[in-house]
Parts: sequence; structure tokens; C-alpha cells
Amino acid sequence: MDTQSDSKEFDVVLYGASGFVGRQTVDYFVRSAATTAAGLKWALAGRSMDKLDAVRNSSGAKSAGLIVAEAHDAKAMDLLTRKARVVLSTAGPFALYGSELVAACVRNGTHYVDITGETPWVKGLIDRHHDEAGRKGVRIIPFCGFDSIPSDLSARLANEAMWTRFGEPCSSVKVAFSLRGGFNGGTLASLFNMLASGQAHAMEDPFLLNPQEIRPEDLARHADPLGPRYDADFKAWLGPFMMSTINTRVVRRSAALLGYADGYSYQEFLRLGRGPAAALTAASLSLGSIAAQAALRVSAMRNLAQKFAPPPGSGPSEASMNRGSFRCQFMGHSASGRTVRGSVSDTGDPGNRATTKMVCESALALALQLDELPGGRQHGGVLTPASGLGDVLVQRLRNAGMTLQLDASEA
Ligand SMILES: NC(=O)c1ccc[n+]([C@@H]2O[C@H](COP(=O)([O-])OP(=O)(O)OC[C@H]3O[C@@H](n4cnc5c(N)ncnc54)[C@H](OP(=O)(O)O)[C@@H]3O)[C@@H](O)[C@H]2O)c1
Repeated sequence: MDTQSDSKEFDVVLYGASGFVGRQTVDYFVRSAATTAAGLKWALAGRSMDKLDAVRNSSGAKSAGLIVAEAHDAKAMDLLTRKARVVLSTAGPFALYGSELVAACVRNGTHYVDITGETPWVKGLIDRHHDEAGRKGVRIIPFCGFDSIPSDLSARLANEAMWTRFGEPCSSVKVAFSLRGGFNGGTLASLFNMLASGQAHAMEDPFLLNPQEIRPEDLARHADPLGPRYDADFKAWLGPFMMSTINTRVVRRSAALLGYADGYSYQEFLRLGRGPAAALTAASLSLGSIAAQAALRVSAMRNLAQKFAPPPGSGPSEASMNRGSFRCQFMGHSASGRTVRGSVSDTGDPGNRATTKMVCESALALALQLDELPGGRQHGGVLTPASGLGDVLVQRLRNAGMTLQLDASEA
């Protein structure tokens, strides 16, 4: 195995290892270290030695190290990141527990991936760390879970296929999601924290994550779609997709960093099926999501919703996670009217099974294949999955059983 080892003690440190998703990343690393990543040096990290020890014992991660580091303790974060070549963090809400860790990664030359969907927090990371991480060749890559790897890799695959088949870029890409899954307490805590901290307004900016110099004038063309629509390409009724205000911002940052077409547009939707019942669902969902967004901005309503939400540390049952699945169909158009189609899909709860696979394979790509990543070993910055991990991640996910496919060539 090529771990490109340097003086650091661990190839990968899993921060937040005692959380609901964190425990699943530990199980994934136990399996990987026994198969595709034999010889990997890795550790579990978090704020409580007792909890870390319990997770290590119950998962059979006998060879893994343990590191105690509270999220706000900058010294502990320095000690942790000096020992790690790559940190994988699942400790969220990230706006509460992630900032010191990322700052320490940039200071100490440690690559970083996480599963945040908190776009305003990442905007702050870009402002504070993108330039320094770029100079130092450190890859800081948020959004490596269900938000936003399927979207980001769909857009990348569509663009690559358009170039390969027709010699031109995609001028627009649209995506339709179908999914079955549950919610974690940690995910809802992150949403409530984002709304309570007054950051909801920032989330509305369709180019929140773009470099200042790459923001189109015609923002209205990129506004988040609200109403129901029948889409002739997908042959289905589509409604608003709740993750799209995260994913579209990430894909637009990838478009800027990777240089997709001028005026490039990207939108995504929830696929609701065919016929009058689907049309009715699309209309109800559109109205419902507008009402829910308005209600959650009122603190009394938020407090009420929080009372009934599952607490941090909890999530769907094993049986329910095993029943879950997602499919993300994509379609790209070129300026001259060419089209490409494909899909990204997997079985298992998107926010747990698929998220665990995606973030672990992202960390392993950094630990094991740094020289093959976009831009080569020295490339850095606050990147996206498509711009920081690219085709290496596509291949790793395929090897791990996820489907990422292009349909046969179209005219
Ligand atoms: N992208 C996606 O699709 C996706 C999917 C699922 C979750 N998420 C996000 O991932 C995050 C975690 O979700 P989850 O369900 O695993 O949540 P969780 O079970 O509540 O886990 C939170 C983790 O943060 C740790 N933590 C809390 N306070 C800390 C502190 N002061 N110092 C250090 N660590 C601290 C917790 O440690 P203790 O164990 O010691 O309490 C725990 O390990 C959330 O932000 C969620 O939104 C994203």
C-alpha cells in the first residue's frame, strides 16, 4: 500500500468518532483496514476518552489509536492535526465544532474532509483559509456526504462526457433525485443551529460559495426553483428538493474552480413520478416547503419543532438504514443542443450508509492516492469533492459498490 507516509503518526484520524455517523465511519475503517487499505495507520478522536474507548472496543478497531480533543481547544487541535496526514470529521453542527479543527489543519499541513451541509460556515472557511491552504498545498474538502457528492460528481461526469463525446462543455445540467431514508438528530441540530444563528439569509445566495470574481450578473436565472413542473426529459413531475440549496452552491463552486462553460447553469429537483397523483404531490410539496421555510424562521416555531425532533446522537434504526436508497439522475445540455445522461445511485440510507461510504472513500483517496488527485500533490485550497478528489473518488466509489454511470451516447 502506498500511504506516502511522512513523519506523521496517523494516515487518517476520525474526529467525532463517537457520534451517530462517526461510529459508522469507524466500522467502515475496520473493514477497509482489513481489506483495501491494509497497513493504514488510523485513530479515533473526540472529546471523551471513555466514549472513544467504548467505540473502539465495540467495533473491533483494536489497532486504532485514540486522541482526546475538545472542539474549542486550539492547543488540542494542534496536537491532533500534527499527528494526522488526513482528518475526517463528523463532529457537527460544524459551525459549533468545526472551526478550530479546520484552522489547525491549515496551520499544520493536514488534509481535511467532512460531511457538513452548512454553506454559511463553509463560506467563512473560504474567506479565512482558501488562500493559505492553496499556498501550502492543503486540501480542505467539506460536503463529502450525501450533501453534496452525488450532485457534484453528476455534474462532473456530465461535463466530462460532453467533452469526450462531442468536444464541447455542458452549458446546463439538471438533476432529479429519488430517495428513501431517515433523519439523524445531529442533522436536525445542524439545521436548527444554522437558522437560529441568523444565517438563513446567506443560504439564499445562489453563488454563496463562489470566488468573488466568478459571480454572474443574471442571478435571477439561477434562482432556486419553487413550484411544481413536468419535465419532458425526465418524463416525470418534479418538485423542490430540500438539499438543493446546499448542493447547487457546491456544484457552482466546482464549476468556477474547474472552469465549466461560461454562463453554466445547474439546478436540481425531487422526482415525484408520472400521472395526476404525482402532479398533486409536486404541488403540495411546493406549497409545503414554502410554508415550512417561513415557519422555521420564527423562533417560537423552531423551538416547538426542536422539542419533537430526535436528539443529537440518535438516528434511524439499522433495519430502516438498510431499507434506504437514493438515485440521482442527471442530464446535461450543450450550447449546440447535444445531450448526455446518467445516474448516481446506491442502496442504504443516504444520510448514513451512503454518507459514510462517501466520506470514508474521500479520506482514503487523500491518504492513499494524493499524487493522482486533480492538480497533483501540491494543489490545495477550500475545495469541493469534484475539484479536490475528482475521478479518483469516482473510481473508489465504484469499487465500493456505488453506481456512477453514463447512459449510451445521444445525438
Ligand atoms: N452530508 C450528509 O449527508 C450528512 C448526513 C448525516 C449527518 N450529517 C451531519 O454530520 C454531523 C453529525 O451528525 P450525527 O448524526 O453523527 O450527529 P451526532 O450523533 O450528534 O454526533 C455529533 C458528534 O459531535 C461531537 N461533539 C459534540 N460536541 C463536541 C465538542 N464540544 N467537542 C468535540 N466533539 C463534540 C459528539 O461527541 P460526543 O459523542 O462526545 O457527544 C459526536 O461525536 C451533523 O452536523 C449532521 O448535520 C451530514
